[in-house]
Parts: sequence; C-alpha cells; structure tokens
Amino acid sequence: MVGMYVELPRGWLTHDFVKSEFMVTSEAILNQLRKQKFDDVIVHLDKSKIKRPVTAKPKQPDVIRDTPEPEPPPPKKVWDSEYVETAELRTFLDDKKLAPDDKAKKTYHASVDLMEHLLAFPNEANIKKSKQAIYEISEMALNEPDTAHHMLHLTTHDYQTYSHSVNVGFYATVLAKELYKNSNAHDMHELSAGFFLHDIGKTAIESDVLNKPGKLRDIEWQHIKTHPYMGYKMLRDANCLKEESKIIVLQHHEAYDGTGYPNRLKARDIHEYARICAIADVFDALTTDRVYKNAISSFDALRLMRNEMLLNFDAEIFKRFVQLFMT
Ligand SMILES: [Fe+2]
Repeated sequence: MVGMYVELPRGWLTHDFVKSEFMVTSEAILNQLRKQKFDDVIVHLDKSKIKRPVTAKPKQPDVIRDTPEPEPPPPKKVWDSEYVETAELRTFLDDKKLAPDDKAKKTYHASVDLMEHLLAFPNEANIKKSKQAIYEISEMALNEPDTAHHMLHLTTHDYQTYSHSVNVGFYATVLAKELYKNSNAHDMHELSAGFFLHDIGKTAIESDVLNKPGKLRDIEWQHIKTHPYMGYKMLRDANCLKEESKIIVLQHHEAYDGTGYPNRLKARDIHEYARICAIADVFDALTTDRVYKNAISSFDALRLMRNEMLLNFDAEIFKRFVQLFMT
C-alpha cells in the first residue's frame, strides 16, 4: 500500500532500489516491489504514512484563482567589508561541546555565508582566506564522522550558487574521503578547496543569464559554458591552489561518455577528482529548486542518476556515492 515504510531483506546490489529502506510513495514503486518477489518485506508501521479511505465529499464548483505572484528575490546582503570573515565559522568548528547535529547546522550556515561573501568579492585575498577556512571544514568532514553524517543529510531546497558550492564541496569531500581512506597519496585539503570553489567562475557570468528562467539562447548557453575555464583562470591568477584543485574547476562539467564541456573529454581522460565533483554537482542540482524545475528527493535523484544518467558518470565512483546515503 502507498504510504508504507518498508525494509527489504536483501542488500542494495541485489535489487533495483537505491536504498534498502524507504517509503512507498507511488503505485509505480509498489508495482516494482511486487515484481521483485521478495520472500519477506518488513513494514515499519511507526514510520509509515498509510492513508485511510475517506468518505467522498460532494464536488465543489471549481474556483478560479489568480495566478500567484512570483516570489521576489531575496534582498542582496550588504557586507560590512569586502573582506571575508571566517571567525564565526571557526568558533563553531572549534567548539567541542556542540552536539553533532547542532554543529552540522551551524557550520553549514556559516559556510554558506562565507561562500556568499567570497562569491560577491572573489579577489585574491578572499580566495586565500576562504581556502584556509575550507581546509578546516574538510578537517571536520574527515575527522568528525557524526557531524559529517548530519551535514550530509542537511538539505536546503533553495538554490543559489553559494549554497550549491557548499553542498557540492561537502558531498564531494565526504565521497573523496570514502574513496581514499586507505591511501596517503591524495592531499584532501587541496581537493576540498577545489570542490568548494568549483563554480567560482560563475562570478564572471552575468546574473541575468545565470538566473534566466526559460530557455537560454545559444549565445547565452555558450557564455555559461565558459565558467569552468573562467574559474580555472581565477584560481591560477590567485596562485594559491595546486593544479589538482584547479583541474576540478576546469573539468567538473566533463561527462564520462564525452558529452560534457568545455573539452568533451572522455572516461579516464577526465581527472578522477573532477569525476567525483561531477557526481556531487549533478546530485545537488537535482535535489534543489532551480528557476526551471523543482527539487526531487535524494532517493529519486540517486535513482534517476542510476537509471538515466549513468553514462555521464564513473559508475564505480557513483556506486560509492550511493553507499554514503545508505547509512
Ligand atoms: Fe558548474
């Protein structure tokens, strides 16, 4: 029945569902469950939202409503100074007494503020200062698994380039940690900086084009597609990041099957770090509201990526990404 919260008896790799525990939200999912012919499926009644039949009410005449006014954009923040401030973020990161869920929330919001400030003034001094703060965020992601777990499940449906940068930075850092946990060959701090700054080149794109609802003209689309190179160039000019960070920025829109941009690189010609970032980038794009589409759930996003977009990604890395959401 739709509304049941079910637990499947087998592991993720042996069935078609992204998770082994989930809510049945549609008849289609219910039919898919039936097709799999499980011996036992546990139904958790305490987590279920089973709708009870209700007596049908007489149909009311349709009311013609006015089209709702579109939400006005949030007012632009005014900063005290054009230099980014990292003190608040550091306070939360250093606080040993904060509970993991509280620390995750506070760190997240302070990180988003930092990124918003940086993207408003993406100069060399701010890039350097932000890089230091990102180092410390990544330390938390690498060494405080409880807080990292809460961060992973914090979702904001609002899309802004700065919140997207933090989300992708965080997802990709946790994924890289998972992939490289038995290796010393990777500079996780540099990697994290590349992930958090992957879209810094968007500051070089006019916001009218970036936030345009509806179809982009070809010339506008070509303009947006310059942001990986623009970001690479900004970091190169700031001269404070290693090549491995910059390559993430340059290649994060390359696709495994060679259909990406700017250079239509294929498979392992795309740096592994950029392949990690591409997965986190698409996942966050799907799970947040955009001017042209509504957010979908993490579950639906992972399923869509697996069923319809897998050729765009490194399938092995994607599998590890899915596993992050199974705990
Ligand atoms: Fe991008």
